[in-house]
Amino acid sequence: MRFARRMKTLGEDTQDLMDLMSLADAPGILCFSGGFPSPDTYPIDDIKKTMIEIMEDDAKGALSYSSPAGYLELRGQIAARMKKHFGLDFPAERVMLVAGSQQGLDLNGLLFIDPGDVILFEKPSYLGALNALKTYEAELVAIPTDRDGMVLEELAQALKRYGDRIKLIYVNPDHQNPTGRSWSQERRKAFIEMIQNCDTAVLEDAAYAELSFSDQKQRPLVSYDQKGQVIYLGTFSKTFCPGLRIGWVCGAKEVVDKLLALKTNVDLSPAAILQRQMAYYLRSRDLDAHIRGICKLYRRRRDVMLEAIRANFPAEARYDIPEGGLFFWVAFPEHVDTKEILKRALEERVAFVPGGAFYPGAEKNNEMRLNFSNMPEEDIVKGMSILGRIAKGFV
Ligand SMILES: Cc1ncc(COP(=O)(O)O)c(C=O)c1O
Repeated sequence: MRFARRMKTLGEDTQDLMDLMSLADAPGILCFSGGFPSPDTYPIDDIKKTMIEIMEDDAKGALSYSSPAGYLELRGQIAARMKKHFGLDFPAERVMLVAGSQQGLDLNGLLFIDPGDVILFEKPSYLGALNALKTYEAELVAIPTDRDGMVLEELAQALKRYGDRIKLIYVNPDHQNPTGRSWSQERRKAFIEMIQNCDTAVLEDAAYAELSFSDQKQRPLVSYDQKGQVIYLGTFSKTFCPGLRIGWVCGAKEVVDKLLALKTNVDLSPAAILQRQMAYYLRSRDLDAHIRGICKLYRRRRDVMLEAIRANFPAEARYDIPEGGLFFWVAFPEHVDTKEILKRALEERVAFVPGGAFYPGAEKNNEMRLNFSNMPEEDIVKGMSILGRIAKGFV
């Protein structure tokens, strides 16, 4: 068979991601690799009850095809939450539901990218986004980051160098995957000022925006956007559960209309029953209180991991303390290859993601991403003790 040319873009990176996702189900593994929320936080009883409510109230609607943009009540609820938490003013009509924000990433690739176009993104960046966007045969250009976000001098140079070839800038400004860092408010503002001089679209992936361990929430990039350049991606995967596959995309009307046409080609209609599940929960339950509970649990797990890293890792290991999200990002001296550490760790049934996965071309291999949300405290302690011992042998 003769497959499409784009299949050549599915290299080892995609296989790596699939392998890492499947590790989550492997029995007995201490899994610090996935970006997984803790199943202990899933509101199982509430989901059971709302499922029965749906079947009693609206079974036919729930089991039918639905409007391609998604269940209107849920779109309204999402619009209201974005207003309440981030001061964003999107009407429900400009909120389109997607099967997880991953589908939103892919649809934006479909909308914007022709072969040979340039996509700018943070270095390092979320592997799943790089893989999804790469399929559209784009040239991926990484822009260095520091503790405050994308380095704007570097961005300015790239804007000048690639000019109109740049179709999209992908960023994940809150408790980023993989580094756990958040962009400062000043950087957000200055970034928008800079990109408003050109007509490239910006994809703001807000997957972790609500998982903050302090009361301080940063304003989203889209809130500074005067020109409708920013497309905002949200998800309930990390604040409710990923199994419902509910994410959303909002942006300028023209963009949302086009994305909707593309999405209709892809899936005709989203899963009506799952969207009602979320809507019924939001109708009668307190998602904010639920998220506060999640943050409390993750903060505790972060603290346990921090202590365990301090106690076990080689003194040369460098890391920041994440103020939210799901990840520690640990850097070792340049000569250390964390892929080699992973091979040894898997022999002892411990998994993490080597940092090279988050750079196209794996140009840097001395870092690791550690997920702290998904393992109970005693497993975090055990896992970090094993990893620390192995890492010391490589430093
Ligand atoms: C930064 C980021 N964006 C998007 C996603 C996709 O999540 P979902 O499709 O479950 O909404 C993930 C998943 O880990 C992620 O880390």
